[in-house]
Amino acid sequence: MTVRFVASEEDGGTVTEVAADPGSNLLDLAHSFGVPVATLCGGNLACRCCRVALLEGAEVSAPASREREALEEVGAAPDERFACQTTVEGDVVVLIPPLDEMLS
Ligand code: FES
Repeated sequence: MTVRFVASEEDGGTVTEVAADPGSNLLDLAHSFGVPVATLCGGNLACRCCRVALLEGAEVSAPASREREALEEVGAAPDERFACQTTVEGDVVVLIPPLDEMLS
């Protein structure tokens, strides 16, 4: 399966396409390939700065109740997920917001 990370235009619009095994964590996968998805908590759903958007049709794990609550608290759009809480189940396109937005 293929995961395509698309950086924001502000961050250069770089597209990084990688092969992924089923069950790969999206944040770990991004960092393995040098894709800058922000994290301050190491993936514990505490910093909430790893929020990314997934293009329609993305094959990923369903959010657990803890993540659903966190998404609701930050007013996330329906296509948004926390990368640290998302695992890959098929082809996925990930839109990464500007880094300064992720860290604000
Ligand atoms: S890395 Fe902190 S919430 Fe995902």
